[in-house]
Amino acid sequence: MATRKQTAPAKTALRSSAPSKATKNLSKAPGKQTAGKAPSPSASATRTVKVAILGFGTVGSSVAAVLAAQRFAGVQLTHIFNRGVERKRSSLAAKAVPAEVVWTDRIDVVLRSDVDVVIELMGGLDPVEGWLRKALAAGKSVVTANKQLIAYRGASLARLAARHNVQLVYGAAVAGGVPVIPGILQGLGGDKVTRLSGIVNGTCNYILSRMESGAEYADVLADAQQLGYAEANPSADVDGLDARAKLCILSRIALHAELDPDAVATQTISSIEAVDFSYAKELNCTIRQVSRAQAEGAVVHARVAPMLVPLTSPIAWSHGTQNMVVVSGEFGGDVVFSGHGAGGHPTAVAVVSDLLAVAQGCRTVALPVRNRQVVGDFMAPHYLRFVVDDKPGIVSAIAGALAKVGVNIDSILQRPGYPKDRLPFVVTTEPCLTSTLEKAVRALAKLDCMLEPPLMLQVLVVDDKE
Ligand SMILES: NC(=O)c1ccc[n+]([C@@H]2O[C@H](COP(=O)([O-])OP(=O)(O)OC[C@H]3O[C@@H](n4cnc5c(N)ncnc54)[C@H](OP(=O)(O)O)[C@@H]3O)[C@@H](O)[C@H]2O)c1
Repeated sequence: MATRKQTAPAKTALRSSAPSKATKNLSKAPGKQTAGKAPSPSASATRTVKVAILGFGTVGSSVAAVLAAQRFAGVQLTHIFNRGVERKRSSLAAKAVPAEVVWTDRIDVVLRSDVDVVIELMGGLDPVEGWLRKALAAGKSVVTANKQLIAYRGASLARLAARHNVQLVYGAAVAGGVPVIPGILQGLGGDKVTRLSGIVNGTCNYILSRMESGAEYADVLADAQQLGYAEANPSADVDGLDARAKLCILSRIALHAELDPDAVATQTISSIEAVDFSYAKELNCTIRQVSRAQAEGAVVHARVAPMLVPLTSPIAWSHGTQNMVVVSGEFGGDVVFSGHGAGGHPTAVAVVSDLLAVAQGCRTVALPVRNRQVVGDFMAPHYLRFVVDDKPGIVSAIAGALAKVGVNIDSILQRPGYPKDRLPFVVTTEPCLTSTLEKAVRALAKLDCMLEPPLMLQVLVVDDKE
């Protein structure tokens, strides 16, 4: 397998592209003043691009701090919008904000202003989508880190932006400060990407990599909540909804496939137990929440699920809140993006980089995107963990159910030391379709001896044709 590691993806290319129509649009906007503070050698500094931040939370306040510290020529923060804005204005984070910035809790103040670029850092779909539509229609470019918005409404917002000759950029929406999106768009646009896989949810990676050292799920989740890595309601992370939004964004830009996020199969990590890591280790694997997509004609196979990952895969090497995405192209082979992208300042770097690109009139590579049917099926070896009240005949019942759907057993593992009346043991299969195996597992779940629903995990073995 040809592995090409890209430590500094092509942000330079993003910033140095030829000026676009959006530049013309910006230069026509009223209120042209050169930024007072930072003198600039670049042509774009002849014209100041006015910027509003919507949402002065973790990332929004970091963006303001980065802009204040870096004092980029030709870019001026003029408005900050947030509900209950006085609370934000009197916060410690507000001290970095220049005195002349207008603080408001009225969105129409921003929408009716001569702001050129709106940076959206509130999150969610409603009311954000409506406000951003108005901003785009009013000729304002939009920079956002909002993955739900871009996964569900990105295509339609991009069309609206194009109609109004402005830009919609979202480089921070996947992996925060790790430049996966600009790296794919600017650095891999020339390849034919056929598949991608990776870890795009730091919370799940923190939980699973701690469990690898023997901790139980509930204890690690409680720690993650205390550390601020997981929400009080962790469902969006642990059930895969956050990751599937990111997978859909990556599929759009890398596979040029528009997927319905709700159609992407997800599986929770909450049914993983410490015993699964013991069995995974025996199989020279670990367990990670993997988001993967693979194009095959008009169909995209896509799934977000805990999977067994061979220890030889770079995906197994990610620990803690690290993100990692492996993009595989027909011509360029594999490219790995990785890093600790989340958090205010790292994410702000990605947002501000997008802002600079827009302000300097750069355009990202745009290739045609097609609606694609999505299926959750992969041809892969699978791991089945059963917890049974041990009785004679259980193994033959399992073998029979698998044989009935044409699935071959590869191995049976049973670690010593567990009570007979609550015995966890594992069966691994030869490569088979996930949907075929699901039929057998549904039948097996009905056996009297099963004390909990069987756990079924794909084994991440990439079919390397090179
Ligand atoms: N944090 C990260 O590491 C990270 C990484 C990558 C991407 N992102 C994305 O970046 C965006 C912002 O994340 P964050 O972590 O900065 O969130 P956050 O800390 O919750 O900040 C959101 C801010 O927006 C304000 N807000 C939310 N809804 C609003 C509304 N309807 N009207 C007015 N103000 C509203 C909130 O005000 P209140 O204080 O009143 O709630 C808060 O100040 C999200 O889309 C997130 O997915 C975050």
